[in-house]
Amino acid sequence: MPERDAAELLRDAKRVVVFTGAGMSAESGVPTFRDALTGLWARFDPRTLATPAAFAADPALVWGWYEWRRAEVQRVHPNAGHRAVATIESHIPDTVVITQNVDDLHERAGSSPVHHLHGTLAHPYCSGCGEPYTFPPEIPEEPEEGRRVAPPSCAECAAPVRPGVVWFGESLPEGQWGIAERAAQDCDVFLCVGTSSVVYPAASLIEHAAARGAVTIQVNPNSTSWDDRVSFDFRAPAGVVLPALRGCLAGP
Ligand code: OAD
Repeated sequence: MPERDAAELLRDAKRVVVFTGAGMSAESGVPTFRDALTGLWARFDPRTLATPAAFAADPALVWGWYEWRRAEVQRVHPNAGHRAVATIESHIPDTVVITQNVDDLHERAGSSPVHHLHGTLAHPYCSGCGEPYTFPPEIPEEPEEGRRVAPPSCAECAAPVRPGVVWFGESLPEGQWGIAERAAQDCDVFLCVGTSSVVYPAASLIEHAAARGAVTIQVNPNSTSWDDRVSFDFRAPAGVVLPALRGCLAGP
């Protein structure tokens, strides 16, 4: 049974990378980006919402859209896949969790630390001087998808506060990226969950792992360019496959 074979390799691994994308949170109710019809980029234009130029042109449109996403994420809960990742981490201490997601569902399921390559919705900062901004503690009222919300002003320099996510054309956070690259190069097993593997440089991590001879496991109900190149290709949702892998970890 491939799940048992993959779980055995996972159980014997010294160093594991769990690398996740939007599909990881799909079963929690957070939309992905590129799934046809339901993906965010099928409904919204990233050029008007996810670039520095878009924020400069219309800060309230961009801030309102990210506030809508932040409110959505606060309403939902980690799913069985997130919980299975946290359990894998507790079984194999040298597990590095790397995500492209800007939600905090891995953390809320118990994973720690989580390396966010594309930033997080929870940590905005000043677009002028870079000063971090702390949200008021109350859960935001959910703005409608396209509603403009003026961003707060920085307490230090009065420039608009911007979402703490990485936009197209921006570099990944250096520290997080360095950890991710090293972990991918050094791991025995690379578990790639819920990503279309098309956005670089994040998508190069599985290439590093495969080139160094790591066992690569893909979990995705749909096809990607990695289908024929991974050691194990599980064509099913994360909330099904990851608990099954975790279930086998304890051995026969
Ligand atoms: P995508 O939307 O490109 O891909 C999501 C993948 O998840 C697809 O391949 C789906 O088939 C798969 N999927 C859907 N439901 C799933 C489930 N229940 N279990 C497992 N997989 C499932 O999202 P990402 O690959 O994360 O960047 O996209 C990468 C980056 O592109 C994002 O971080 C974001 C976006 O533009 C920024 O915002 C900078």
